[in-house]
Amino acid sequence: MRPVLGIESSCDETAAAVLDGDGHVLAESVASQEAAHAPYGGVVPEIAARAHLALLPDLVRGVMARAGLRFDALGGVAASAGPGLIGGLIVGSQVAKGIALAHRLPYVAVNHLEAHALTARLPGLVEGGAPFPYLLLLVSGGHCQCVAVAGVGRYVRLGGTVDDAAGEAFDKVAKLLGLGWPGGPALEKLAAAGDPARYDFPRPMLGRPGCDFSFSGLKTAVAQAVARLGDGALPAAVAADVAASFQRAVAEVLADRARHAMGMMRARSPEARLLVVAGGVAANGAIRSALRAAAGAAGFTLLAPPVRLCTDNAVMVAWAGLEHLRLGLEDGLDFAPRPRWPLGELTPAPAVRDT
Ligand code: KG4
Ligand code: ZN
Repeated sequence: MRPVLGIESSCDETAAAVLDGDGHVLAESVASQEAAHAPYGGVVPEIAARAHLALLPDLVRGVMARAGLRFDALGGVAASAGPGLIGGLIVGSQVAKGIALAHRLPYVAVNHLEAHALTARLPGLVEGGAPFPYLLLLVSGGHCQCVAVAGVGRYVRLGGTVDDAAGEAFDKVAKLLGLGWPGGPALEKLAAAGDPARYDFPRPMLGRPGCDFSFSGLKTAVAQAVARLGDGALPAAVAADVAASFQRAVAEVLADRARHAMGMMRARSPEARLLVVAGGVAANGAIRSALRAAAGAAGFTLLAPPVRLCTDNAVMVAWAGLEHLRLGLEDGLDFAPRPRWPLGELTPAPAVRDT
């Protein structure tokens, strides 16, 4: 298999990467748009789309130059085609299709969630590559779900959030504490100095059957506690206690939900042994530890990829493209990006359908 170019532009990270035919990274680049969106306290879709358009051509040229490759040396071009913000998806897809058309290369329209799901199979993370089936806990700013991953294109959503995503809860609580946006990393830093037992915040869904999540009640409880603590900025030590108590509540809920999901996974696939965590929230140390303990107790091993592979990146998109191309799967240039594109709506790869 020849090298594959991957492009990511579904939210506020503009990224490009080139992998060799075995999945080793030849070059990668991520341009964060954080500074452009920070004044608004969240991602502004129109600003994101324009930034992708401004950044992507140079980013692509840059990774190709560093990989030492011309476009016609590629075996395919893959781009996130959904779910995500439509403006960015159009920009990334058009760039990929343009390259594919000009150089007569196969094009792969990658489902962004599938890219997160397949990251675990990148060479070097698990000896010989993570074997199917495994359980995926995807926790990011926009997604919070447990997925049984049975093969390329074969995903079953076991449960998900009924309201906010975990990352959204981090961002909202960080805002309450005046930490700016995105809030997750700043909140984790602040929590390190706080007492996680100081405030007894609710643990929504804890112990309930299944593996659904809910975070809006927790966020409201934190908002009420902050309001009770008085007007204006909280003293640093108090804010640290709130952050630590909130983070512990989220970690306990995620560990509990993952425990249930592992039980559900075992019932479906008794041979499953791997819990993979992905998405920006997987960068959180306290959450990783809680998940590692829950996995160990259930006879699973936690695979938490390096942080740069957990947050949005193009390595995972190129890798998902490679997995498709290896199975002879490519998409037509008429594929229309899909702002909503649930994992359950993917076509299973024919080569693995009956395994
Ligand atoms: O996967 P990601 O980069 O983008 C998508 O949402 O698709 O995830 C970003 C989310 C944000 O909500 C951010 O606050 C959260 O991940 N996050 C964290 C941490 N780092 C990023 N949440 C908790 N602790 C962190 N260290
Ligand atoms: Zn993502």
